Amino acid sequence: MTTIGQVIRCKAAVAWEPRKPLSVEEVEVAPPKAHEVRIKVVATSVCHTDWECLYETGKGMNFRPFPVVLGHEAAGIVESVGPEVTNFSPGDKVIPLFLPYCGECERCRSDKTNLCRKNWANTQVGVLADGTSRISCKGQQVYQFLGVSSFCQFTVVPDTSLAKIRSDAPLDKVCLLGCGVSTGYGAAVKTGRVEKDSLCAVFGLGAVGLAAIMGCKIAMAKRIIGVDINSDKFKKAQEFGATDCVNPRDHSKSIQEVLAEMTSGGVDYALECVGSPGIMSAALESTTEGWGTCVINGWTETKSMEVKVMTIRMGRTLKGTYFGGWKSAIDVPILVDGYMNGKLKLDEFITHNVLLHEINVAFDLLKSGESICTVIRLQDSQGDSEPKMDTI
Ligand SMILES: NC(=O)c1ccc[n+]([C@@H]2O[C@H](COP(=O)([O-])OP(=O)(O)OC[C@H]3O[C@@H](n4cnc5c(N)ncnc54)[C@H](O)[C@@H]3O)[C@@H](O)[C@H]2O)c1
Ligand SMILES: [Zn+2]
Ligand SMILES: [Zn+2]
Repeated sequence: MTTIGQVIRCKAAVAWEPRKPLSVEEVEVAPPKAHEVRIKVVATSVCHTDWECLYETGKGMNFRPFPVVLGHEAAGIVESVGPEVTNFSPGDKVIPLFLPYCGECERCRSDKTNLCRKNWANTQVGVLADGTSRISCKGQQVYQFLGVSSFCQFTVVPDTSLAKIRSDAPLDKVCLLGCGVSTGYGAAVKTGRVEKDSLCAVFGLGAVGLAAIMGCKIAMAKRIIGVDINSDKFKKAQEFGATDCVNPRDHSKSIQEVLAEMTSGGVDYALECVGSPGIMSAALESTTEGWGTCVINGWTETKSMEVKVMTIRMGRTLKGTYFGGWKSAIDVPILVDGYMNGKLKLDEFITHNVLLHEINVAFDLLKSGESICTVIRLQDSQGDSEPKMDTI
């Protein structure tokens, strides 16, 4: 029996309030409205930004309403499309996008930025174009994190926040291209434009940092120094291409001084993949005078980082990147091709696989530093593979 046009009842991990574990609940997912697509989410992964939103929300500048279904790194299959959708059909394999690409605005037409703002104000506060969410639970509206909400067996996204990908792509792997891996890789090769034979430092060796190392290696950097306060991360970083690894806690000097000594003055490129203002400043100060470039990836609820006038005046460049600089809907399918052709790693990022009802384990593994990426499979969780239609 078709689900098209019906409300779907399915399972989702709901965050009822900040700083509390997620609760797996039965939710209702409304059909897509104009320019919206409903997708069956097959696999998703927990990004540090989901953790930041759940545990750090309210401490900084970003307003994030609760209850919310988190999750923004995922892959799935189109279940149905709303009116006026022309680019997608039921059965298409897709990756939802927390950064839209409308293809029409000034930013989409410029090669200087990927920061399309289609539906931006709404998705940042958890609703779609009409100011409401498509997910509800126990009669209450549940907000959609970044307009996505992939910790739900079905979700509805704007047609400008979705990338169609090739039909042979394994969804439980390419889901990682929905955020962290694309972000770190792009920070190196697209935003940073790391050059052959350059000296690089990557701060933070989680998914984003490992992907940045992968990018530095593909760009044929001469030296790639991985920096992390958790030395357990070093083995994997070396497998990805780090030539050296440094734990700042093993040194009495600052990390910028340690790196300056290791490189005779500083690195050409510093890629910050932690999300801490102090590390952002240290990364900038680790770059060489004259031409050093620092790229900030980290997401923090804290408002500002310190930039010394002298540091920036001496020829350094400070850049920030969102989703690695990729124009989401057009570049994600190319990144999927990169994985399918063997250029990009994805399998190596996956340290754990869990089902939806085990989602809090994925959060714990991320916070304890035990995992890199935990893939959550949504459709075979506790026998809930088939959605129930609302009969009301
Ligand atoms: N710009 C974007 O579009 C974008 C996209 C995805 C993620 N992010 C952000 O990127 C950052 C990294 O994400 P992730 O998923 O790889 O996180 P993660 O938690 O998997 O990895 C962070 C790493 O930083 C290390 N670390 C913590 N404090 C440190 C310190 N003081 N010095 C050195 N290393 C330290 C941790 O041990 C860990 O290995 C987060 O802030 C996340 O929110 C940004
Ligand atoms: Zn993310
Ligand atoms: Zn646009």
